[in-house]
Amino acid sequence: MCGIIGSTGDAATLNDLVEGLARLEYRGYDSAGVAVARADGTLDRIRAVDGTTSLKLLADLASERSEGYIAGLGHTRWATHGRVTTENAHPHMDCSGGIGVVHNGIVENFRELKAELESEEHHFDSQTDTEVIAHLLESFLKQGLSLREAVMQSMSRLRGAMSFVAIDSKDPGVMVGTKRMAPLIVGKGRGANFVASDIPAILGKADSFYQVGDNQVVVVSPQGIELFDLTGTSVQLVEISVDWDLAAAERGGFSDFMSKEIFEQPAAVRDTLLGRLNAPGEIVLDEMRLDPEELRRINKIFIVGCGTSYHAGMVAKYAIEHWTRIPVELDISSEFRYRDPVLDQETLVIGVSQSGETLDTLAAMNEASLLGAKTLVVSNVMGSSMARTADAVLYTRAGPEIGVAATKTHTAQISALLLLALYLAQVRHCLYPSEIREIYEEMITLPEKIEQVLATDAAVQEVAQSMAAVKRFYFIGRHVGYPVALEGALKLKEISYLPAEGYPAGELKHGPIAMIDSDAVVFGVTTRTRLWEKMTSNLEEVRVRGARIVVVANEGDTQSVGLGDAAFEVPKTHALLAPVLDVIPLQLFAYHLAVALGNDVDRPRNLAKTVTVE
Ligand code: F6R
Repeated sequence: MCGIIGSTGDAATLNDLVEGLARLEYRGYDSAGVAVARADGTLDRIRAVDGTTSLKLLADLASERSEGYIAGLGHTRWATHGRVTTENAHPHMDCSGGIGVVHNGIVENFRELKAELESEEHHFDSQTDTEVIAHLLESFLKQGLSLREAVMQSMSRLRGAMSFVAIDSKDPGVMVGTKRMAPLIVGKGRGANFVASDIPAILGKADSFYQVGDNQVVVVSPQGIELFDLTGTSVQLVEISVDWDLAAAERGGFSDFMSKEIFEQPAAVRDTLLGRLNAPGEIVLDEMRLDPEELRRINKIFIVGCGTSYHAGMVAKYAIEHWTRIPVELDISSEFRYRDPVLDQETLVIGVSQSGETLDTLAAMNEASLLGAKTLVVSNVMGSSMARTADAVLYTRAGPEIGVAATKTHTAQISALLLLALYLAQVRHCLYPSEIREIYEEMITLPEKIEQVLATDAAVQEVAQSMAAVKRFYFIGRHVGYPVALEGALKLKEISYLPAEGYPAGELKHGPIAMIDSDAVVFGVTTRTRLWEKMTSNLEEVRVRGARIVVVANEGDTQSVGLGDAAFEVPKTHALLAPVLDVIPLQLFAYHLAVALGNDVDRPRNLAKTVTVE
């Protein structure tokens, strides 16, 4: 939520900011802006509003005004406080116009700070919470503090999870940033140094990337990068290993990131699974920092996540309980945190988060740690906040995901979580080694099977286009077909803006079936499991009430195919692995329907890729 970029140094340009912002649009696209420190000692601000055109406008303005650039900050906004207007777009400035601030997160006590600052004659130009930071820094600077000291002091006055970066025209080459439970990284390049909320913003520009920890202050200048704690003590920089290349953060011939990423799923799943079985046939999870002895002591698991990651976690619950017999509770992160969960040292809390930054999940994991539980995160971003703070980490290797609707990271998450379930079964001796090997060998056929599903794209597109006028969709499934149904519905809601609900098929008759009529389309996840017959009965129940049916069925399963007015066919696999394949036609359906409706699939309204506010 809200993207931040800054650059300084001889080789730094205003164009860095504009290009970086274009790569950060997935964080918010309500408005965008830059503040540029120039050699003449001025801070020049350019801001533009209106989702699709603001970056273009900025780029045009930037090309006119790139002369004299010393350093600058850029921001792409997802509005929280203050409507989407030019005066609410970042960067925000102090009364003198000499201090510029870009911010991500929420200043929870901004009303009280604003009142205090206004009583000291500070004048506010916006309705944002961010602007208090600029004025707070101004008052500290007036007391004779340096920008670094002012940032340190301001952190003790600001409440909430946030990151921000400031620049002062009096010392124009220097950017000072800080964070608390929100993302911020720094990068060193040749002749330029950078600060950013996310790695893709500075891919191809920075050669090395470094973490900024919570309550640390980073000073980025043309000479280098220095890190401090809030007492001013110097802190060692820790490098983040980044194996993403620039091409991965670009569209590469696809019309949008979402379709590119749907089609990258064979690689995302392959890379996540590869090299996880050693010569003797055991699962090895190299990055795991939990020792097998600790895992043997675990007697309860909680899985926490939001949205699509929560759905991946639901698949994992079925697999872990089935393969290890450890009881698993599944929680939406924002609920877990405040429901006083019962945890102890023998509890493992697994956080699922592609970004590793989602505030609700980060806070849930921190809460679990405080209560003494072991924590493990499944994340796609190396060095992300959760990866750094959890006791253990398991990385998905999907490459950067830019499309707001998660696709390749979802199937990679399920794959990683299934590996984790097998690993737990192995260390706890719940499955025979031959059983584990057999399941793993089936898992590594998934990328090829995903290719086969992707080859049905044109058929899915045809069905989607034929349903462009449908106003209500329902998705039903049983067992691991249930999270697939939830995810199918979520994808459709996110990018088509149409009502789409997912239900456990058996639950339909307990209320939701009242909504079923001939205007409804019902998707049934009908791939073969021991519950197939029950699933078919549930589909019959909706058919007789007039709904149109689309089934996700195994290839060549004429009985299942015959249940639908349309069918999406997927290859057969192990029942617990099936969600990796079954969800793909539903992603494609959502994509094609949204395109048919004329929606911008990469920038769905009201959504941001990484939600760093509560
Ligand atoms: C849906 C989607 C969101 C995210 C959720 C969690 O397409 O992308 O529902 O899954 O915001 O994000 P992460 O996984 O980054 O914690």
